[in-house]
Amino acid sequence: MAEGAVFDAQAVTDAVAEGIAKIENASSMEELKAIKTQYAGAESAMTQASKAIGALPKDQKKEAGQIMGRLRADFGRAYGVKEQQVKAEEEARALAAETVDMTLPVNRKPLGARHPLPKLMEDVEDFFVSMGWQISDGPEVETEWYDFDALNFGPDHPARQMQDTFYVKGNQAKDAAGFVGSNMVLRTQTSSDQVRGLLTRGVPLYIACPGRVFRTDELDATHTPVFHQVEALAVDKHLTMADLKGVLDKLAVAMFGPEAKTRLRPSYFPFTEPSAELDLWFPDKKGGAGWLEWGGCGMVNPNVLKSAGLDPEVYTGFAFGVGVERTLLLRHDINDMHDLVEGDVRFSEQFVMGE
Ligand code: DAH
Repeated sequence: MAEGAVFDAQAVTDAVAEGIAKIENASSMEELKAIKTQYAGAESAMTQASKAIGALPKDQKKEAGQIMGRLRADFGRAYGVKEQQVKAEEEARALAAETVDMTLPVNRKPLGARHPLPKLMEDVEDFFVSMGWQISDGPEVETEWYDFDALNFGPDHPARQMQDTFYVKGNQAKDAAGFVGSNMVLRTQTSSDQVRGLLTRGVPLYIACPGRVFRTDELDATHTPVFHQVEALAVDKHLTMADLKGVLDKLAVAMFGPEAKTRLRPSYFPFTEPSAELDLWFPDKKGGAGWLEWGGCGMVNPNVLKSAGLDPEVYTGFAFGVGVERTLLLRHDINDMHDLVEGDVRFSEQFVMGE
């Protein structure tokens, strides 16, 4: 309707009826909004007619106003009803589109698997912590003094030979004991943490030292140049071999099940006196594996206690060391060390259950 147009009740009623009919056929909010602009916006017949009322003679204004009020209300009602309906439909469509079908196969990345070795190390640590022991984490590059001298290895002991021990260049360290001029080595045993523990933590001392050790072995079915040990050291008043045996049996049960047991065979280590080989028995799947070598142990040699400035007349101690790889090999009947060191996830996956 152009500017200054006359008020035409029929025309605007028809226009609004047309708009309402379109509203009823609309199926989206977008459509509805376009209809609203067309039939109720600034340019619409309805708006123009309202404006034209002003130009009507006074006696017609009231009726025209009533007509327009009714038309607006009809249009608004139709719009409101349809708007609700369309919104509900759109929401239902969106929900349907977002539905997740739980039965569809998912393109998932395969999960990795933790290597059983660090897991076993944690289990061993948990065992010691459960008895109230401390976990000690000594350095892998170690002074020869801690690895050998302080542990009563004589200067000519064969274990010091280049064939067994990795010596590290640029040596000559000053260590915690104030011992200057010791060669540096890659520790050959976690027993190297014994005297450090005694010097830094004092007595009574109950520590377990899990960690990596190094020897100049070739990798083969039973050896690897880098492997793991757990050392245990207890120094206190009145400790005897019975205490040692008790802890060993408890560890065997924790690692190999309730029927596992240990036995000691006389042996020699420079840092224990008396010393023993530690054998293990546990029922394997075939009904008994026989006695297997598991590690070494003994009562702490008085010379080791003296290295740490302790009086062997007052303090006694026991120590033992077991190989972690060996524990895994025995427990799971693994025949080849290569399986442990090569890092093939298919190997690790076999241990995931029961994590
Ligand atoms: N350190 C020894 C080794 O590597 C194992 C060992 C033997 C540890 C006897 C001990 C022990 O504490 O008392 O072969």
